[in-house]
Amino acid sequence: MTAQPSPSQPPAAPREQWSTKTAFILATLGSAVGLGNIWRFSYVAGDNGGGAFLLVYLGAVLLLGLPLLLAEFSLGRSCQGDVGHAFRRAAPRSPLRHFGMLAVLGSTLILSYYSVIAGWTLSYLTDYLLGLLLPQQSGDHGKRFQNLIADPVEPLFWHFLFMAITVWVVMAGVRGGLERLSRLVMPLLGVTVVGLAIYAMSLPGSAAGVAFLLSPDWSALSDPAVYLAALGQAFFSLSLAMGVLVTYGGYLGREHRLPSAAGAVATGDVLFAIIAGLAIFPAVFAFGMAPAQGPVLAFVVLPQVFSTMPGGSGVALAFFFLLAAAALTSAVSLLEVPVAWAMRVLALSRRQATLLLGATVFLLGVPSSLGFGPWESVQLAGRGILDTIDHAVSNFLLPVAGSGLALLVGWVWSEREAIAEADLVEGFWARLWLILLRYIIPCAILLILLRSLGLL
Ligand code: PHE
Repeated sequence: MTAQPSPSQPPAAPREQWSTKTAFILATLGSAVGLGNIWRFSYVAGDNGGGAFLLVYLGAVLLLGLPLLLAEFSLGRSCQGDVGHAFRRAAPRSPLRHFGMLAVLGSTLILSYYSVIAGWTLSYLTDYLLGLLLPQQSGDHGKRFQNLIADPVEPLFWHFLFMAITVWVVMAGVRGGLERLSRLVMPLLGVTVVGLAIYAMSLPGSAAGVAFLLSPDWSALSDPAVYLAALGQAFFSLSLAMGVLVTYGGYLGREHRLPSAAGAVATGDVLFAIIAGLAIFPAVFAFGMAPAQGPVLAFVVLPQVFSTMPGGSGVALAFFFLLAAAALTSAVSLLEVPVAWAMRVLALSRRQATLLLGATVFLLGVPSSLGFGPWESVQLAGRGILDTIDHAVSNFLLPVAGSGLALLVGWVWSEREAIAEADLVEGFWARLWLILLRYIIPCAILLILLRSLGLL
């Protein structure tokens, strides 16, 4: 509903929009490509059977990721609003309308710990820039990382700085901020990751790393945890179910077609993750290191590799630039979700909404950061605060929110409306899309969740 402006009020500014479809695809790809592709994908793949995981992951992207991407884009573009508005408008009487709020809360929560990790990358980037980290003895890197994250103040400073940059971009708006950033950063990221992969694969002894990523350990396929991990990774990496794609779709004009945009984003994201894996594992193996799990891979093992590698400081700079810049284009998309919501619901200006939510996210992230230092004893099932939130979000919140979205677009929207809004035509692909949304995606998610909770 748009109220008529009274004569004393200036007319409301028209809703912001991307300038072109390419800008929309680049910004969405910027959201998808992030720590998830570089930091998370490598260790989740390493943990879950290497090449076998990759196959399950590709399956998850094709069968769940792509249809959901298209569903989110259609939902957002059809209502030209934030995610809360989109869900309410599409399902005014169904309980599914509340899933929009889940996305607003979820994206705020993800950003709170995402920014803590991104803050670590800023610290490394600065140290490499200032030449403080190289050359080093290999043993020191574990200590350096431990000292950084356990410090009660320093990681909070980097977390604050990262959020401040994120706020600055989002405050500049859709075209001036989000679009401009991704136009600048995405081509650079592409060149950097390809350059790093070529360099890593040219190192003697790197073949074992390529084999680790690509040769399958088939026994992993009998482990249900692998499927859950692939599902969680697909959701996280494609920025699904957190309202980002609905919100970004809400800034897209009706004249642009959606299926090709969804295909471009999914392909770009998967390629980026594989190329990042081809940059990381060959280098790790070439220097005789073990592919560690978790953040240790990016923040300890790789710096060790860089310190022994010819031209290591340049490579280290490129790598941490890649990590920090990719994190920034994702962080701005996460912040945009609650900002767009607050601008409508609380009637705030973009500036006010961004400042308010930026501060909230910073505060929410403080426990995640302190969980590695003063609050280390706060543990749940052997996980610290940040890992607990990451695990709960990727393996529970995202899949649940994703099935809500599938059910909404598959069942609540009329068939004709859903197909038309997605720019599909009645026929094989439209049928397949609806069958996936209605039955396959919700059932697959439910089965995998129950299985992983030990209830099946
Ligand atoms: N896709 C981003 C990444 O891979 C993270 C993200 C998750 C962004 C959910 C938005 C929403 O790092």
